[in-house]
Amino acid sequence: MELLPFCNRKVNKMKKIGVLTSGGDAPGMNAAIRAVVKTAIANGIQPIGFIKGYNGILEKNYRVMDRESVSGIIHSGGTILKTARCMEFVTAEGQQQGAEICHKHGIDGIVVIGGDGSFRGAGKLAALGVNTIGVPGTIDLDIGCTEYTIGFDTAVNIAVEAIDRIADTSEAHSCFSVVEVMGRHAGFIALWSGIAGSARAIFADSSTTAEQIVEHLRKYHFTSGTIVLAEGAGKAEPMAEIIERELHVHTRANVLAFIQRGGNPTAKDRVYGSMMGAYAVDLIKEGKNHHLVCIKHDELCGVEISEGMKQTKECSEYLAHLGQ
Ligand code: ADP
Ligand code: F6P
Repeated sequence: MELLPFCNRKVNKMKKIGVLTSGGDAPGMNAAIRAVVKTAIANGIQPIGFIKGYNGILEKNYRVMDRESVSGIIHSGGTILKTARCMEFVTAEGQQQGAEICHKHGIDGIVVIGGDGSFRGAGKLAALGVNTIGVPGTIDLDIGCTEYTIGFDTAVNIAVEAIDRIADTSEAHSCFSVVEVMGRHAGFIALWSGIAGSARAIFADSSTTAEQIVEHLRKYHFTSGTIVLAEGAGKAEPMAEIIERELHVHTRANVLAFIQRGGNPTAKDRVYGSMMGAYAVDLIKEGKNHHLVCIKHDELCGVEISEGMKQTKECSEYLAHLGQ
């Protein structure tokens, strides 16, 4: 007789899983929560939602979730479970306490919806024996092992709409506008929104200097329009001052900030959020601990967290070239 592998034995015992959102919110997180809850219930697993990221575990602040609790949320931005940074969880004591609470409450697995910081926390919980699955929810698209992260499409579309509006007024007044978009460590929102918004120039990372941009605007005789800048590549205000001083054209600074993170998710973020949330529960059911839900070649797959976190996302040369 063949022995059942360990993971299958675990499948049969699965009774309760937790779900939380952590780090920066991203539109589509609610779709992912909804899918986790519905898939868990359909598989006879009781889902519970921890409030405010890892704080919810440490403070034992949770909601027992049912289908009603996730009804009418797929179109909303933000996260019904709220999100937060939890500094206590970065400490070894906090992680130990979190794992003990999970064990004591019979939690068989946790789905963490968030960005790279949240996945480092998930990795720590996994090392302490709590099954964890990460779902990439960040507008920045900066998780190397996946082609998509929930929220990116909405953030880009909001940024493009803002850039289009700002461009109209910049053209009307024959002035430049520097538009600073989010992305502290990644320039994907800047690149995508800058290309789609027909920016005169794009600063996607800190390798481009203000002098180069001025040179570029001069070379093509631009006297108005938008310059898109990733938050991690520089600040809008000083950039606008340099352009105005060098080119003698009035230049306004615009910082889009939180406007890109909130609001109704696009259909893409609702659908990807739903698929990735449901897949997370399937991975837990299969006994796949310490994995990230990823999209590769447009297919869902699981990648081991520490392996996935080592991967960096390269920008396609073609895309980078279009942004010049
Ligand atoms: P994001 O997940 O969007 O990248 P953060 O980097 O702020 O956001 O991380 C979110 C939370 O994840 C932190 O507040 C903390 O609770 C947890 N976290 C981040 N880094 C670690 C770490 N090295 N160890 C344990 N927990 C971490
Ligand atoms: O993770 C998304 C993100 O929007 C980054 O681009 C940005 O650096 C960060 O969150 C800022 O978040 P907060 O202002 O909440 O610290």
